[in-house]
Amino acid sequence: MSTGGKPRVLLMHPILDPGRAVLAEVAEVIDYPNARPLDEPSIRQAAEGCFGIVTLLKDPIRETVLSTPGLKIVSNVAVGFDNIDVPTATAHKVMVTNTPGVLDETTADFAFALLMAAARRVVEADVFTRQGLYKGWEIDLMLGTDVHDATLGIIGMGRIGRGLAHRAKGFNMRMLYYDPTPLTPEVERQLGVTRVDLGRLVAESDFISVHVPLTKDTLHLLSTPQFGQMKRSAILINTSRGPVVDEAALVAALKSGRIAGAALDVYEREPAVHPGLIALANVVLAPHIASGTVRTRSEMSAMAARNMATAVRGGRPPNLLNPELKR
Ligand code: DGY
Repeated sequence: MSTGGKPRVLLMHPILDPGRAVLAEVAEVIDYPNARPLDEPSIRQAAEGCFGIVTLLKDPIRETVLSTPGLKIVSNVAVGFDNIDVPTATAHKVMVTNTPGVLDETTADFAFALLMAAARRVVEADVFTRQGLYKGWEIDLMLGTDVHDATLGIIGMGRIGRGLAHRAKGFNMRMLYYDPTPLTPEVERQLGVTRVDLGRLVAESDFISVHVPLTKDTLHLLSTPQFGQMKRSAILINTSRGPVVDEAALVAALKSGRIAGAALDVYEREPAVHPGLIALANVVLAPHIASGTVRTRSEMSAMAARNMATAVRGGRPPNLLNPELKR
């Protein structure tokens, strides 16, 4: 676990300041070799002799890694943790932590940015203008969809979903939400949102934005039947996890004109993007950057490092996902 002094911590990828310095105060930081594949056997090999691993959401952390002798903690630099098999971690007495709370507003900003970009065709317009195709004002040039007064359907009313609602309120949007756990009537009133079932949400919304974690219950939550119920003018925004949306069904719906557009930050098989999406002009694509501001990514890095440092010092990390593990 250590070479005499500090315990070893495997850092899978560089993180932002002050993350590494926080780790280095308590641990010997081992960098995962750059060119090494991100598969479980390779990660396990690198994790041999380590007390903990600091991971990103692209690192698969399941039985093979979690059964590494002496491993005590996996600290994910993300709020989502579907890359880690938490029940298996618990079975091996490995703590798992994440970075909740620090990225909500930043992610909500980006979800709204994607919504606006798709509605008003910002990316298409940029390409068109750069290509020298703008030859003079036309009455029907690049017509888009109004955002103000439109209906927004929010799937998943956690912190990010509520952040989006705050923003949408300023655009006087009518808001529906779908979530197995209702907000209190007071919060519903404050946000101006109405809880409905998924069928009604998809049928009535002009914009549908997804904010649920990826679990076995949310896998392909939106697929052919839901696209079939949407308005032909509907625009889908996804900043949560790719597999919540059945990507092949989405491509079919977009190609056939069943729905009008999409704006995506996440993909079913990241970093691969379905070639059908790349070919479509009515889709805005981003490389999983919804939380990507300097401040937020720095805070995520620091938080993950603090979770690890607390564990190294023998304490209970603040953002423990398997609290049944006693410290
Ligand atoms: C997360 O934290 O889960 C996001 O997807 C990346 O910030």
